[in-house]
Amino acid sequence: MSLSPDPIPIKPTPAGVPRHVAIVMDGNGRWATRRRLPRVAGHAKGVEAVRTTVEACAREGIEFLTLFAFSSENWRRPADEVSVLMRLFITALEREVTQLRANGIRLRVVGQIDAFEGRLQRLIREAEQRTANNTRMTLTIAANYGGRWDIVQAVRALVEERPELVRDPSLVTEDALSRHMALAHAPEPDLFIRTGGEQRISNFMLWQLAYTEFYFTDTFWPDFGPEVLASALASYRDRERRFGRTSAQVATA
Ligand code: IPE
Ligand code: IPE
Ligand code: MG
Repeated sequence: MSLSPDPIPIKPTPAGVPRHVAIVMDGNGRWATRRRLPRVAGHAKGVEAVRTTVEACAREGIEFLTLFAFSSENWRRPADEVSVLMRLFITALEREVTQLRANGIRLRVVGQIDAFEGRLQRLIREAEQRTANNTRMTLTIAANYGGRWDIVQAVRALVEERPELVRDPSLVTEDALSRHMALAHAPEPDLFIRTGGEQRISNFMLWQLAYTEFYFTDTFWPDFGPEVLASALASYRDRERRFGRTSAQVATA
């Protein structure tokens, strides 16, 4: 069982460096189309942006970085695009794990992994094992992930663990369910970033985003890097996180 997540803080935390940043990496296709390139060229370039961003976040002292790489809805795309995305995932796992180890980064992959081909599943497990003891930053890749799937699988896992809950549903609590969410190894995200100009969640971490600060940028994901990250972090520092309280209460807390 993974560590239990931090509950929504009782006291607002002063906005500084977010502990957990979650990013919807969007706009690869449009980045490529603008350049008259095939969409998959944007995905390839997007992998480079992942590398740069992981390093930049680790330098900023962010403890948890979660990247949305493939949604449960992305299977609806043309088969050849899906297949290129799977190839890129495989290549990235083959190439990057050594560097993750060198940089002290622990890798976790969340989502319905069992839908992937055997080789990819094996690479995921190996990469997780080989980086399991790293402590500088946890990089979570959401792959074949959907926020609704996550809630449903957590309910199933909870009921399986404690069948008595079926007879007494009042025993079902937010905390009990949180422990079974796919991201139970991380606190709830402090900052959500979406690139590519769309302002929507697209079935990302529905449960965990309850009190997250949102930042949207028109920058396409392949162009994302330390500069846009810095703007997002600056915006985050200016926010007042009230968690239901009044501004005056926050000031005296
Ligand atoms: C995000 O970029 C990558 C994935 C969803 C896998 P898109 O491929 O969605 O790029 P746009 O939104 O079509 O530009
Ligand atoms: C969200 O992007 C999923 C990922 C970034 C992996 P999409 O491009 O699939 O989102 P929609 O379909 O435009 O909402
Ligand atoms: Mg998109």
